Amino acid sequence: MTQHDRLLIIDFGSQVTQLIARRLRELNVYCEIHPFQKVTEEFLKEFNPKAVIFSGGPASVFAENAPTVPRIVFDMGVPILGICYGQQLMMHLLGGKVERGHNTAEFGRAFVTPAAEKLALLDGWFAPETNGGREQVWMSHGDHVSEIAPGFRVFGTSPNAPFAITADPERRFFAVQFHPEVHHTPKGAQLYANFVKLAGFTGDWTMGAYKEEAIRQIREQVGDGKVICGLSGGVDSSVAAVLIHEAIGDQLTCVFVDHGLMRQGEADEVVSMFRDTYNIPLIHADESDLFLGALEGVSDPEVKRKTIGKLFIDVFQKHAHDVGGAEFLAQGTLYPDVIESVSFSGGPSVTIKSHHNVGGLPEKMGLKLVEPLRELFKDEVRALGRELGLPPKFIGRHPFPGPGLAIRCPGEITREKLAILRRADAVYIDQIRRHGLYDEIWQAFVALLPVRTVGVMGDGRTYDYACALRAVTSVDGMTADYYPFSHDFLGETATRIINEVQGINRVTYDITSKPPGTIEWE
Ligand code: XMP
Repeated sequence: MTQHDRLLIIDFGSQVTQLIARRLRELNVYCEIHPFQKVTEEFLKEFNPKAVIFSGGPASVFAENAPTVPRIVFDMGVPILGICYGQQLMMHLLGGKVERGHNTAEFGRAFVTPAAEKLALLDGWFAPETNGGREQVWMSHGDHVSEIAPGFRVFGTSPNAPFAITADPERRFFAVQFHPEVHHTPKGAQLYANFVKLAGFTGDWTMGAYKEEAIRQIREQVGDGKVICGLSGGVDSSVAAVLIHEAIGDQLTCVFVDHGLMRQGEADEVVSMFRDTYNIPLIHADESDLFLGALEGVSDPEVKRKTIGKLFIDVFQKHAHDVGGAEFLAQGTLYPDVIESVSFSGGPSVTIKSHHNVGGLPEKMGLKLVEPLRELFKDEVRALGRELGLPPKFIGRHPFPGPGLAIRCPGEITREKLAILRRADAVYIDQIRRHGLYDEIWQAFVALLPVRTVGVMGDGRTYDYACALRAVTSVDGMTADYYPFSHDFLGETATRIINEVQGINRVTYDITSKPPGTIEWE
């Protein structure tokens, strides 16, 4: 699809494969991750990579049906970097030896000592003033290489890994036992920079170039057809909509379904941005009565989610129908949503929550998908948003879940409770912004608890709701830690909420990480 030089990452199931892609994209290199099962000879020829990286992975090269690659990959004349399992596989396939991990398993920090011979891959490594000229790396392996393949030489050793860094510089094959992509290998980014430099990448994967290319592709795909796009108020669908509007103008109509579960002022903000600032045709479907009516008496989280999800599809369909003759549906799908990760257990994963999106719609409505963000990570979407001139405040917004405030209000939802929650949330976010903490936090919100507690204000007794403040740091929402606010901040915020929000007389702070908790309360 893309015109840029491409790097192929073959995924053997490492937990950190995505980080390899991150490191490369930071270097303006275009790369794609593909699971090893998909990488056949034909695939390799068609993909035509300028360099290849073998990821790590949990398997052993001795296992039956051990993950592997077609041998042709070594005959393509392109540089290859093998990491951990990737290193072992390279050695195994090229004539070296790998041994089971009898007491040689190694997890965590290790220090690599350089060999006398220099290697371009390691330019900038082994500064004499740090760690006595050794380099810190992060190891995580059971098996180990016991004999390197013909043509390879050793360029770095660690106490438990005599072949920590090996290479055949003539063929530009490199194999490392550790993980250069993780934070705990401090010079790992430098290693990737050296690798792509020696592979001849020019670093032409910029957002400006991406935007131009995406616009061209949208025009090509859509022709003079009509496109509809569901706006949620979140960054992804907004950036997708503005990008598509730049490409095809009024052939795009956006539908914003207001389910009555948005935050304070949010619906107005979205509508005015799209209609007034961008002049994008927009249907503002105020369906709050419908949604809140259907949710009356519902307290089970999954029933809430499913009710909202189903209604959303019905409503969207109804309004999309008014656009008349749309052939395409635009979605803000991101790269982490589309990569096929490798499942070694083979079993389906457990559903923790039924996530709400417009999945299922295209088939139901006979629409083709337009997904211009499919190749991007979240922060790249933000960069594209800046390139398109979206207001910075909008681009930096915390994620907001499709079911909205319904899942921040455990138990039954009422309009009264939603009004209280909106006010408390607005005060909390205002506090976070005033203290300059908004951008450090992945997501912050108030959950209104379904309990009333006794308080004393002035000389009177109160019997009002308790609420919980939530703030987490995260990279991708999959794991998260609670944000370590100062006690002063928490105290000041609790005071403001109780003083400014009628209906709340107690404030708590949620200090659960994910796992075992989830970010949202339901
Ligand atoms: P959890 O609560 O599962 O949330 O730890 C992880 C991230 O996903 C968001 N979230 C959703 N986003 N539809 C969405 O679009 C949903 O149904 C949904 N549920 C949770 C949540 O806000 C957090 O950022």
